[in-house]
Amino acid sequence: MDNRTNLFTDPLWKYKLPDTINTDWVVDKAYNLKNKDTNVFGGWQSFDEEQQFQFALPIPHGIQLQEYLDERMNSIAKGLGLPAVSLLNYWYNINPPGAVNEAHHHQDALLVGNLYLKVPKDSGAIRFYRGGDASYYIPKDSDYNDVIGTQIELTPEEKDVIIFMGWQKHSVLQNKSKEDRVSLSFNYGAIR
Ligand SMILES: [Fe+2]
Repeated sequence: MDNRTNLFTDPLWKYKLPDTINTDWVVDKAYNLKNKDTNVFGGWQSFDEEQQFQFALPIPHGIQLQEYLDERMNSIAKGLGLPAVSLLNYWYNINPPGAVNEAHHHQDALLVGNLYLKVPKDSGAIRFYRGGDASYYIPKDSDYNDVIGTQIELTPEEKDVIIFMGWQKHSVLQNKSKEDRVSLSFNYGAIR
């Protein structure tokens, strides 16, 4: 007991997708969409108007995956005292060798998730940034801890599902492997 209270915290949840849930179709679908896209430059995301407002994963092959994600997300939301959440949108990401994703957060989402499907070695960690201006105050050579750390990286593995808050800023580091990195991103929001 060190008399400390955490005023706020930036949580992240990590799960392993059960092998019983087939995801081969996700990778196929990602490449099908990418091949149809004439505007591909660097990292590719299927984030267009059509995808953005597509509220359910393709049925029937996506049903198991969506049920799993709905259950995870709602159990987290419940634990946080939030109302029930549902899938708002999702998109496919293909980061070829050399690609990066700049720092961003997911506006309007309460909970954000990523499912990693193809993660070659050195294909880019995900980096999370602390909110606010703490990096201005903290000496640059400080060691990380959860109070004074300003960024932290996580190297996902295949079939990892990570979930974090919609306002959590993050980026994806450069893919330094010789193969594509493939993932699925999804936003969940409260049902109004
Ligand atoms: Fe993101």
